[in-house]
Amino acid sequence: MNLEIGTPIPIGLFNKRLAVLAMQGAGKTYLAGVIEEEMLDYLLAQKETNAKLIIIDPVGAHWGIREKYPIHIIGGDHGDIEVDMDSGRLFARMVNETNISVLFDLSQMEMEDMIEFVSKFLKETFQITKTPTHIILEEADMFAPQRSVTSNQKYSSAAVDSIVRRGRGRGLGMTMITQRPAVLSKNVLTQVDASIILNVTGQRDLETIKEHLDSSGLGKTEINDHIEKIMKFQKGQALLFSPSWLKRTEVIKIRERISFHAGAEPELGKPDPSLKITLIEMRKDLLIHYLNGDTESLIKILKSDAPRENVWTTKQEILEEPVEIERSDAFEYNFGTTKKKLRSWAIMITGAAFLFWVMTLL
Ligand SMILES: Nc1ncnc2c1ncn2[C@@H]1O[C@H](COP(=O)(O)OP(=O)(O)OP(=O)(O)O)[C@@H](O)[C@H]1O
Ligand SMILES: [Mg+2]
Repeated sequence: MNLEIGTPIPIGLFNKRLAVLAMQGAGKTYLAGVIEEEMLDYLLAQKETNAKLIIIDPVGAHWGIREKYPIHIIGGDHGDIEVDMDSGRLFARMVNETNISVLFDLSQMEMEDMIEFVSKFLKETFQITKTPTHIILEEADMFAPQRSVTSNQKYSSAAVDSIVRRGRGRGLGMTMITQRPAVLSKNVLTQVDASIILNVTGQRDLETIKEHLDSSGLGKTEINDHIEKIMKFQKGQALLFSPSWLKRTEVIKIRERISFHAGAEPELGKPDPSLKITLIEMRKDLLIHYLNGDTESLIKILKSDAPRENVWTTKQEILEEPVEIERSDAFEYNFGTTKKKLRSWAIMITGAAFLFWVMTLL
């Protein structure tokens, strides 16, 4: 895995725990894109693999990966199919049974719904996974904060904690990305095998990074030197800190991305570059097969002798119209929205009845 020009990081990253720490706009999502490209390159080069990559993106900044790489997108503006807050368990089972790499774009969900989806998805994934699976979690501090505010956050935090502490033996690894190292759960940050630290200037976050570097037994002067560098890093520069796993603590240069960075800041007076991007077309029928309960034919397609990239991207075979979803799981899949609608109707009817009753009293 080549994040930098020169010395690569071993591909055995699938079941490892990584933290990407940096302030806002320092290049976290750009770097995550480089990690994704390297992992997908590896997966595509394998004829048969049981490994997969899962990206959880609450901000809608990762879809550009599909300019160059075949990966299913679920949810968001560029999704093959929609995502629903109640479908976390169903999608966890789908990814596990079919070994497909998936990007969950949750950017169209309310924050509480996102957290509910992620807690169900991660909990189920932790329980059923037995093969190498790497999860990239954007805005990890929202799902595993140092202090959980809502009950959903408590559940998602517990799920992240299980994966980070006990996932390795099941093949599970995670890259946690945060712009607020100080508010990410200390329990998970202390477990990581490697951290990649980009530019940080905030005092509280620098204190957390100091503590983090200190845990490895580095000397005070060395830590202060690293902090000085971190405060001055330009885009593309980072400190790789992995005293136990890689036995390296050094400044690295992040290589350029191949695929489109959808999270790029818009430049004044320039047209939106995403308008020119063409995404690789995916066989969304594969996902629909699963939702219809036809897991066997989906697995047969995925295991066919055709080269892997053809299986994923045969354009002429993409179904024009998605088939109807019939199965009970599909009911579970659609039920979240229905439940919400029913709830608002019930509130409206009760309100109207109450008003009517008040008026009859007058
Ligand atoms: N290594 C790099 N080389 C070139 N440009 C970069 C690099 N890293 C980041 N950038 C550019 O800097 C800007 C911010 O990058 P990015 O979106 O990755 O930041 P971020 O840390 O994820 O920000 P946020 O905290 O808002 O999520 C983007 O326009 C991106 O293209
Ligand atoms: Mg970002």
